[in-house]
Amino acid sequence: MRALVKSRPGPGLELTEVPEPEPGPHDVKIRVLRAGLCGTDLHLYEWDEWAAETVRTPLVVGHEFCGTVVAVGADVDHVEVGQLVSGEGHIVCGHCRNCRAGRRHLCINTVGIGVNRDGAFADHVVIPGSNVWVQPPDLDPELGALFDPFGNATHTALSFPIAGEDVVITGAGPIGVMATAITRHVGARFIVVTDVSDVRLDLARAAGADLAINTSQTSLREAMATLGMKEGFDIGLEMSGAPAAVSEMLATMNHGGRVAMLGLPHDDYVIDWGRVITHMLTIKGIYGREMFDTWYAMSSMLQTSAPMREALRSVITHRFPAERFEDAFATIRSGRCGKVILDWS
Ligand SMILES: NC(=O)c1ccc[n+]([C@@H]2O[C@H](COP(=O)([O-])OP(=O)(O)OC[C@H]3O[C@@H](n4cnc5c(N)ncnc54)[C@H](O)[C@@H]3O)[C@@H](O)[C@H]2O)c1
Ligand SMILES: [Zn+2]
Ligand SMILES: [Zn+2]
Repeated sequence: MRALVKSRPGPGLELTEVPEPEPGPHDVKIRVLRAGLCGTDLHLYEWDEWAAETVRTPLVVGHEFCGTVVAVGADVDHVEVGQLVSGEGHIVCGHCRNCRAGRRHLCINTVGIGVNRDGAFADHVVIPGSNVWVQPPDLDPELGALFDPFGNATHTALSFPIAGEDVVITGAGPIGVMATAITRHVGARFIVVTDVSDVRLDLARAAGADLAINTSQTSLREAMATLGMKEGFDIGLEMSGAPAAVSEMLATMNHGGRVAMLGLPHDDYVIDWGRVITHMLTIKGIYGREMFDTWYAMSSMLQTSAPMREALRSVITHRFPAERFEDAFATIRSGRCGKVILDWS
C-alpha cells in the first residue's frame, strides 16, 4: 500500500510502498479516505528537537483521519466492516490508576498514532477497536477527518461553563476557529478571537467571533472597550502557544476568571503569577480529548446544528491528493490556510 513514511532520522517524508498492516484480535483495519495535516506532522516533517527525541524510524505518520472499516479482529464486537469511522489518536494502557478510574484521557502511558506507532497517512491504518468512533454513514469523510482537532477544540471549550460568559480565544488556527464555533453554539455572550494573521482572523469571524483582532495592531483592552465590556473576560481559551498571547489574556481576565490552555509553547516562559493569585484565576491544561465524552459532544453538536456543520467545513481551506503531499506541507508551513486535507481515496 501507499504510505507517507519517515524512513530515517532527518527532515522530509517519503511517499512509498509498504506492507499493509494486519489487525490483531482487538484491532480494526481501516481504508483511509481523508486525512488532516496538523502542526505535529509538520514537526515530524521538519525533524525538530522534539521529533528527534520522540520518534523511532521507520514510521508512517498522520493521526487525523476518516475511513471505511475493511477488517475487524475476532474480539471486536461493536464495529462492523463497511462502517464509516474516525479514530481516537491516543491509545491508552487500560491499567494505570487513571485508566482504571475511567479517566482515560489522563493515562500516563498514552501512545500516539502516527508518532509512537504507525499512523494514518496511508491507504490503510490499524488501530484498537476501542479507539474507533463509528460515524453516521452519510457524514462527509473530510468532516470525519477533523474529529481529532475538533475534539481538542471541544475538550478545551467545554472545560468550563461558557453559556452567557465573555470568552477570549487566543490563536485562530484551525482549533481556535473550531472553538469559536463551539463557543457560539453553546451560547457565550461576547467572543473575542486574537491572532497575528489576517487570513486566520477572517476564518474566526466566519465561525462566529464578535470581534477578531490582530493583536499586532489592536489590543484586547481596545476590543473590550469596543464591546462595552467593563470588567474582563470570564473564560480564556489559549490556542496559540504564544507567550505574548498568554500574558495579554491573563491581563484581561476578570477576577475569578478561568483559563483552559491547549496551545503548546516551544520553550519555558514567564507568567505574571501575582496577577493569577490576586485575581484568583484558574488555569487548566488540556491534552487530547476525553474518551469518549468529547466524542459524544462532537457528534451531538454536528447532528443538531447546521451552523456548526458549516463552521466546521469552513475550517478546511485546502485539499490535495496524497501524491501532492509536498504541496500540502508547503501550505501549512506558509500559515496562509485553515485545515489542509489529504485525499487517500
Ligand atoms: N494540548 C493538546 O492536546 C494539543 C493538541 C493539538 C494542538 N495543540 C496546540 O494547540 C495550538 C492550536 O493548534 P492549531 O492546529 O490550531 O495550531 P496553529 O499553529 O495552526 O494555530 C496557532 C495560531 O496562533 C497564532 N498566533 C501566533 N502568535 C500569536 C499571538 N501572539 N497572539 C495570538 N495568536 C497568535 C498563529 O498565527 C496561528 O494562527 C497549537 O499550539 C498546537 O500545538 C495542542
Ligand atoms: Zn493533530
Ligand atoms: Zn493508562
